[in-house]
Amino acid sequence: MSILSRNDICWCGSGKKYKKCHMEQDIFISNIEQKVGYKIPRDIMKTEEQIDGIRKSCKLTHEILDMVGERIKVGVTTNEINTWVHEYTVEHNAYPAPLGYGGFPKSVCTSINDVICHGIPDDTVLKDGDIVNVDVTCILDGYYGDANRMFIMGEASKEAIDLVRVSKECLDLGIQQVKPYNTLGDIGNAIQQHAESLGYSVVYDYGGHGVGLEFHEEPFVPHIGKKGEGTILLPNMTFTIEPMINIGSPEADVLEDDWTAVTIDGSLSSQWEHTIRVTETGYEILT
Ligand code: MF3
Ligand code: CO
Ligand code: CO
Repeated sequence: MSILSRNDICWCGSGKKYKKCHMEQDIFISNIEQKVGYKIPRDIMKTEEQIDGIRKSCKLTHEILDMVGERIKVGVTTNEINTWVHEYTVEHNAYPAPLGYGGFPKSVCTSINDVICHGIPDDTVLKDGDIVNVDVTCILDGYYGDANRMFIMGEASKEAIDLVRVSKECLDLGIQQVKPYNTLGDIGNAIQQHAESLGYSVVYDYGGHGVGLEFHEEPFVPHIGKKGEGTILLPNMTFTIEPMINIGSPEADVLEDDWTAVTIDGSLSSQWEHTIRVTETGYEILT
């Protein structure tokens, strides 16, 4: 229901007529609200213009991770990775979102072995057998793209290699649940089932998130859950899925630096992340 008529100025501040702006989307959402029986926040679905911007930012994020993948090897420091990411990002007219975010001191997160996420680059040297997550977020023309990948240094143990593979499978299975009218619970459930059936645990203190106009938007995207529960997925929602999978306990501890999250038992942790758009029929991986 809207109190605006077709020729009124849209509520969103664009200055356009309602019928040329948000009218169609409002009708679409209110039909869904009638079906599900609760209010859906109006800003959860991006406009086509916003999607275009987010897609470009995500493409750059993907390229930055490709660049890191070409250079990362035993012997480099996480500070060097930080420099590569920072310079490549600004050379492409973008800004590294982590830098200064809530006081985060660097331009990328680098999380090694038992670090779950939010590792701060420093003079640590990557060594043979390490598993390393590099998490890149860039801001291009005001739009955010967020993704991370694992990199295996030299010869790693079978348990490390298996963990990295299974955590990627968890991301892929989560993504396959993305389509209109599925819920966030369907995504979390698929991830949790796969990880736990193989004896791994799923970190619940951190999750994915809406992304695009801000770094971290609503909704929180849990990587555990029950089918059919949680927020409903609608076309042009954009959010990350970024499961963190542990060999031992799922519990996290934050170090004195207030950022670095580690497993409480020192067991290995692995994570993969994409930014996803809900399409009319399924998903688009933007990163
Ligand atoms: N990129 C991380 C995520 O996927 C967030 C990092 S926040 C930072 O949500 F401040 F540590 F960079
Ligand atoms: Co994220
Ligand atoms: Co990220």
